[in-house]
Amino acid sequence: MKYFNKKSITLLTICLAIAGAQSFAQRDHDEEAPRNLKVLPKKTSGEEVHKIMRGYAEALGVRCNYCHAKGEGRGLDFASDEKPEKEIARKMMRMVNDINDNYMAKMEGGKLDRVSCITCHNGNPHPQATASKGEEGGDKKMDTDHGKDHDTKRDKN
Ligand code: HEC
Ligand code: HEC
Repeated sequence: MKYFNKKSITLLTICLAIAGAQSFAQRDHDEEAPRNLKVLPKKTSGEEVHKIMRGYAEALGVRCNYCHAKGEGRGLDFASDEKPEKEIARKMMRMVNDINDNYMAKMEGGKLDRVSCITCHNGNPHPQATASKGEEGGDKKMDTDHGKDHDTKRDKN
């Protein structure tokens, strides 16, 4: 201990203790038993919910605060339903369950992969809903084909 005097060691110890207590408190708070689950099974543990939530954040390429409102203090109030994004996410969860239970599970003897948030979102909160206009196979080409069919029919009449 040539480089540190007694005072700096004490200071370091205090800093480490504070940092440790803070991260413990943070984890404790985050992983407390969920109390406002409406789609996930009510008995899902805090730890499991966290794993699922990290999956949502990754699938949409967003952070927790995209769906969760600010709390009283510095953190987020995870149980709050204040943000509309959270309610949309619940509807998306129900849709995904429906697709999997009523369609994917019944196709090819249930051998197919299941759908999840990332299937559509692929790291984006706003997945592309239509083929881009003007490209081969996109809306424009479809419109042109439509027009042609229509004209041909009219010519025959
Ligand atoms: C795409 C939206 C979305 C994102 C992003 C998201 N969550 Fe959630 N979260 C939800 C929804 C929806 C619920 C409620 C699920 C239900 O009703 O079954 C929820 C519930 C929770 C709960 C349970 C709260 C309670 O007491 O009921 C916790 C804790 C939580 N989220 C933490 C997180 C954390 C941590 C992150 C970031 C890693 C995160 N969430 C990211 C949508 C999201
Ligand atoms: C079948 C494709 C599909 C799946 C699967 C899917 N989504 Fe979506 N989601 C969409 C589309 C399309 C939109 C609308 C995007 C837009 O209008 O910009 C959307 C929008 C959203 C939004 C609102 C974004 C905003 O800010 O307007 C949230 C939140 C969301 N999805 C969460 C989820 C979660 C969580 C899952 C998994 C449980 C999921 N989605 C699964 C297609 C999907």
